[in-house]
Amino acid sequence: MIELRDISFGWPDEVMLLNRFSLTVRPGEKVVLLGANGCGKSTLLKLMNGLLEPGAGEIFWRGEKLTRAALRQPGKAAAFRRACVLLFQHPEAMLFNPSVREELSYGLRQLGGENIEGAVGKWARLLSIEALLDKAPFLLSGGQKQKVALACLLILDPELLLLDEPSSSLDPATIGRLVDLLLHSNKTLVVATHNLSLAAELGQRAVVLGKEGRILFDGPVAQALGDMVLLEQAGLAHRHGHQHGGVGHVHVHTHDWK
Ligand SMILES: Nc1ncnc2c1ncn2[C@@H]1O[C@H](COP(=O)(O)OP(=O)(O)OP(=O)(O)O)[C@@H](O)[C@H]1O
Ligand SMILES: [Mg+2]
Repeated sequence: MIELRDISFGWPDEVMLLNRFSLTVRPGEKVVLLGANGCGKSTLLKLMNGLLEPGAGEIFWRGEKLTRAALRQPGKAAAFRRACVLLFQHPEAMLFNPSVREELSYGLRQLGGENIEGAVGKWARLLSIEALLDKAPFLLSGGQKQKVALACLLILDPELLLLDEPSSSLDPATIGRLVDLLLHSNKTLVVATHNLSLAAELGQRAVVLGKEGRILFDGPVAQALGDMVLLEQAGLAHRHGHQHGGVGHVHVHTHDWK
């Protein structure tokens, strides 16, 4: 579905963030992207969503090269924006309409869609935000904003969902509903998260990033989460000193995953 081939990317005044990085995601795959703060997960998702352009290397969307020029062609841009969507780590960046109702319908109004009102009702119900439809998005709580941002993406019926820390503000019931919704769909997922329990539930394939976008691991999620050496190396587990009966010893452990 999407292929990053030998891409390099660096922000101005930064060391190279991604250095000849390659990743292929096939249709229907559920991939979790793991790695320490600042390793480049959000940057990678923005590259995959065509919001950033790599300094070198190529990105292919369904076999076609994704370039700034391609995304300037109205037909192509609309098809890509509908099929490949990104939930920002900070959902405020996505919300700008006067009401939640208008926020939800915005994408379909722009990209073309039928029975917009029906779709808004359906997704508001599925994400339990019906009571918020007439509220201004900027007045919502963090988790409510995240739910609205998610609904804005799901309403487009996308093929590839790039989710940047989707569980950062959501309550456990909503996370559960999201997992049910996404896991039992044929949608392709790439989810960046520090939430290892969510990774275990949602992902089938884990890609663990190290420095300069080096891939430390690419394989079954369960295998990655069982490898304490890998998790510590990737900044996903830490060493903790304990006293047991007056004897000090050190554990490597994760915080939300056993
Ligand atoms: N707009 C920007 N301009 C300059 N540097 C940036 C910008 N956005 C991110 N960076 C830098 O790029 C690096 C990677 O950032 P990124 O947000 O991709 O990391 P991340 O893996 O998503 O981290 P986190 O787990 O904290 O969300 C960081 O060093 C960050 O400071
Ligand atoms: Mg991030």
